[in-house]
Amino acid sequence: MNTDTKILRKINNYQPRGGLGHTAKLILSLSAVNHLQVKKHMERVALLSEQTAKRQKKDDKAAFFSGLLHDVGKILLPYKLFDGHNINPEEYSEVKRHAIAAYMAMEDKHLFTALCAGLHHNLYNKGYGLKTNDFPASLSPATIKKVLDIAMIISICDFVDAFTHRDTKILDGSDKKSPKLRKMLQEKYPNEFQTIETVLQVNKDLCL
Ligand SMILES: [Fe+2]
Ligand SMILES: [Fe+2]
Repeated sequence: MNTDTKILRKINNYQPRGGLGHTAKLILSLSAVNHLQVKKHMERVALLSEQTAKRQKKDDKAAFFSGLLHDVGKILLPYKLFDGHNINPEEYSEVKRHAIAAYMAMEDKHLFTALCAGLHHNLYNKGYGLKTNDFPASLSPATIKKVLDIAMIISICDFVDAFTHRDTKILDGSDKKSPKLRKMLQEKYPNEFQTIETVLQVNKDLCL
């Protein structure tokens, strides 16, 4: 079964509330028009995140959809930013807008997914995007903890997928081809030893 079929089958099986399934399918269709590489990346991150959450006994459905839509902000940006060329610092500033753009696009319809998307580049040193201070005041401590847990899984899966698949050099360290992926992850996420190990194992097992 190819990845596209696997993804659509999972969307149907999960039957998410609040129209999240429809949003996910719409975003996949839209991203296929000009941002095919972004679409493929989001699909792989969804599968990695889902399986990582499952192995850590966390909410695999939330991880799947938040992973699937984490870079939705990129499809609002020019496709040339993601065409494989080595981008310059100005272009990188533009790329950085995708995290907040994703949050703003989804916050009123799919808040949990929006928070994870906004946050996924702000869980490490010198990150960017949404901050926990920006979270709506109405969120319970349990929900905030869940957002942070799932966003962390997505962030690490995102880095691993970028390291293994991405052609475009985005100046965030993930483009440096080196056999030291584990070491890079440990430096970037110093308190996430267990999640790093789980993601690396899942990445190996799924062979995406
Ligand atoms: Fe991203
Ligand atoms: Fe990403």
